[in-house]
Amino acid sequence: MKALILNYPVRTLDGIELFAAGSELSEETIQEARKQHPPGKREYCYLLKHGSVFNDMLDLMAQPTYSAIYAGPTDRDTILALLKNCRVQPIVLASLDYFRRKDLYTYRHALMVFALSIMLARHLALPGLDLEQEIIAAGPTHDLGKTCIPLSILTKSTALTLSDRRYLEHHTAAGFALLAWYSGDMHAPAARIARDHHERFDGSGYPSGIHLRDVLVEIIAVCDIYDALVSLRPYRLTSFDNRTALEELTELADSNALRREIVQSLVALNRRSRPSAQACVVSLERRGTPPADNLYGVTVPEPDAPPPHKS
Ligand SMILES: [Fe+2]
Ligand SMILES: [Fe+2]
Repeated sequence: MKALILNYPVRTLDGIELFAAGSELSEETIQEARKQHPPGKREYCYLLKHGSVFNDMLDLMAQPTYSAIYAGPTDRDTILALLKNCRVQPIVLASLDYFRRKDLYTYRHALMVFALSIMLARHLALPGLDLEQEIIAAGPTHDLGKTCIPLSILTKSTALTLSDRRYLEHHTAAGFALLAWYSGDMHAPAARIARDHHERFDGSGYPSGIHLRDVLVEIIAVCDIYDALVSLRPYRLTSFDNRTALEELTELADSNALRREIVQSLVALNRRSRPSAQACVVSLERRGTPPADNLYGVTVPEPDAPPPHKS
């Protein structure tokens, strides 16, 4: 894979610039940044003991949209029991604290994508892979790079402009850079998840446009889209209902953007009988309707862009 080139700088939450815009993210530049700015001791802390994380996760799992997946206390207890021993690094906790204070949507989203991806990995149960434990070890880090995105963009209540979107997309490279710098390992699951969770199976994603073949990251990608659709966003006052969100994902699997088996597994998690991913029959018939004010993925021209040229 080609090394990523940064379009914007990467700074820690303390404001230390680790990588300037234009830097290449390679083994050498990451090790050099660690020399210039040592990340300090990597003391792991229990995620559920941090702040209000335990209660927040419990509340979020009980909310209506997720009630089909966490169908009863057993499912919630299973996730919380799995997370009991989940220990994460201070950089992860600092990002959660930041989002909880500044951008509640991203805080909620980070926790829910994390919890859902553990459920999905459990349900998929691919032989020879312990994806569930890999996700737990990575922690709620997929959007950690959003600490490098201006809050005016993250919390914007209107459609993003092209330059907003370009800046927002920087969160993948930024998350990768921060996590690779912190751990010293650019191949660690957390760094890969942060970098590749917007890549797609058919190569239609970003930042590199690779054909994503990393089941761990693909699980996060499916949960990421699902949560984005079923959540209220600053720019969308109505969320997708569960059926419509699952139909959107099924369509993406049908167009080869997402791996079908993973989407089927998510659909199965929403069924009371919990069939296996392979046995879950998914209809392609569309019956749901996206919310009328949906701006998901919509980009508008810059406000001061010149009017179109007339010949
Ligand atoms: Fe993301
Ligand atoms: Fe996300």
